[in-house]
Parts: sequence; structure tokens; C-alpha cells
Amino acid sequence: MKLNLDEINIDFKLDGEGLRVWKYKCLLPIKIEPISLNEGGTPLYKASNLGKELGIRNIYIKHEGLNPSGSFKDRGMTVGVTKAIELKKKAVACASTGNTSASMAMYAAKAGLKAYVLLPAGKVALGKVAQAIMHGAKVIGIKGNFDQALMIIRKIALLKNLYLLNSVNPFRLEGQKTIAYEIVDEIGVPDVVVVPVGNAGNISAIFKGFKEFFKLGLTNSVPRMVGIQAEGANPIYKAFIKGLSKIEAIKSPETLATAIRIGNPVNAKKALNAIYESKGLAECVSDDEIIYAQKFLASKEGIGVEPASAASIAGLKKLVEKGKIDFDETVVCITTGHLLKDPETVVNVCGEPICVEASIDAVLDVL
Ligand code: F0G
Repeated sequence: MKLNLDEINIDFKLDGEGLRVWKYKCLLPIKIEPISLNEGGTPLYKASNLGKELGIRNIYIKHEGLNPSGSFKDRGMTVGVTKAIELKKKAVACASTGNTSASMAMYAAKAGLKAYVLLPAGKVALGKVAQAIMHGAKVIGIKGNFDQALMIIRKIALLKNLYLLNSVNPFRLEGQKTIAYEIVDEIGVPDVVVVPVGNAGNISAIFKGFKEFFKLGLTNSVPRMVGIQAEGANPIYKAFIKGLSKIEAIKSPETLATAIRIGNPVNAKKALNAIYESKGLAECVSDDEIIYAQKFLASKEGIGVEPASAASIAGLKKLVEKGKIDFDETVVCITTGHLLKDPETVVNVCGEPICVEASIDAVLDVL
């Protein structure tokens, strides 16, 4: 999608006031009244304890888990589903590791559209499946992974005239670029933005947002874009360390961060472009590093995120230890989904609460 500067009526102030996706309507390719659930305007927390731990002066967490469905996908879905209505579509579809399906089902419900979802069976966090079902989507599990689900749904969408709302849909990415707008609106352009990477749409969308503000003359720079993958699902990291702009797909991706359990990201090329063009970095982290970061954020900053989101913090820690990020750089980590999306992982890594007899003595014994 190209920006047509003549068509843009910049009547908004960059003042951090009233942040939300549709504050930037003049930069979004939609003509009709949006299908909105008040998405965007997520908090940008100064993470001082994390800053102390890593020895970085200014770290911020943009908590996208506080969107209506609990993930950043709502920014893309408000635009994508509105576009489906503009195009007079009757049904939408996606393959998903969970969050896309939850968000799509929610916005399709609001818009009165049918919704069809393909998931990798047994590999989607429970909270996300619950959302997709409750919001009325037809949810189908396949005995395969996300990459296979996406290949299948792309073909079925063509056959059955379903409007595909994966991040191959450019309007999804248009909505997600508002993450960058909001960061600039609140603190200006940071030095570094760290993003967990799965299908690789979000990092490209965020970079697009920063570039647009730069081209419009609203800012003087763009940040270094840093993409973090899980060790068992890291084709972009592997391409980056070899200096390549094409990935080699990973056949059987595996990680506890199921949201980013993707071996053949469709937006890999765009993501690598964003990383190279911004002089950024890619890194990958183990499941143990992800869980450590998830626990740190939850217990030292009061910020509850799902494992994939914690990958951004784990990756930042690794890059700081390698000396790739300086102590005086301003860093923004994007935490993409809420803790409550994946309660099963929490119980698996933290254990069940203690259960005792209903007496004061029994409780005092275990205090
Ligand atoms: N974090 C979370 C919580 C996600 O759900 C996803 C992607 C990502 C990060 C990666 O974003 O794909 O733009 O690089 N989830 C998709 C889904 C694949 O189906 O919900 P990406």
C-alpha cells in the first residue's frame, strides 16, 4: 500500500491525547464508518526494574495485551473487518496460532459476518480457542501445524469466496502500523523497538508506521527494528545471521510460545527488509529464557504477558549481554498478548496453588 500524501489531511496533534487506532483515520485506507471495539491506545509503561536488571536507562513496554481481545491483532482486525464490510463480503477466514482467530471472531461478531478458523489442533492456548468459539466462529483443528493450516485456508478462501484475514491481507498490517504512531505520539522516536516474530507481519507493519511519520516530516529518524524468535521456530534469525533476505523454512517448528510456533512465515521477506533497512537485529531465545522473562515482567513490573510476548524481553536481555544495545539507548519492547491467553502454561511452569483444610491453623501452617 502506497501513501498518497495529497490525500492525507493531518488534522491530529501528536500529543498522546485520545490514543487509539482510529485517531489516525486519515492515514488508514478506509472510507466507511469503522467496525471498532475501541482498540489501540495501549499503555506504554516505563519498566524501571527491568531497566535496572539489564542496565538500560530507558526501557518501555507497550502492552498490546490490553487491547479488547487481549492482543495486538485487534488493530489489524478493526481495519481488516471494516474492509470486508466495505467490499461487501459475507464471511471471513483465517489460519491461526490463536490470537488472530480470537480477534477475527470478535470483530466478525460485531460486524455480523460469518467467521471460519483453522487451528493446529492441540497447539493453541486455551484462552484463545475459548474466545474464537464464544464469539461464534466455526473453529476447525487440523492435525498439522500453522504453516499447513495457512496453506489450506488460503486455497479454501479462494474457492469459497471467504475474505482472508491473515497478515497476507495488507489491511491488517495497515491497522498494526498504528503501534508505531502511538509510540511516537507519546515519547517520540525510540532508538530500538523489539518485537516478537512469528508470521512476521507485525514487525514489518510497525516499521511501516515509523517510516510513514518520517516521510511525512513528523519525525527525523526511524528506530532500529529488532525481531525475536523462539529457538525452535527461528527461520528469520537464521537468515539474518547469514545476511540473507530469504528464509529456509523450518519443517517442524516447536516452542512453548505457541503463538510464534511458525516455521515458514509468510511475511519473512518484509520482516528481513525492515531489519536490514533500519540497521536492526534478529535474535532467538530458548523456552527457558522466555519463561524467565515472563516471570520477571509479571513479578517485578506487574505486567502479565503470554510467553510469545515475553520473547521480546528475553531477546533484549540476550542482546544487551552481547553488547548489541547500549545502556543509554531508549528501547521499546512490544508485548503482544495478555497473560490470561495461556493459563495452562502458567500452571505448568508455576504449579497449582497450595490447597489446605478450611481452618485458620491450616492456612497459618503454609503462610
Ligand atoms: N505475539 C503473539 C502473542 C502472537 O499471537 C503473534 C502471532 C506474534 C507475536 C507474532 O506476530 O505473526 O505478526 O510476527 N500470532 C498469529 C496468530 C500468527 O495466528 O495469532 P507476527
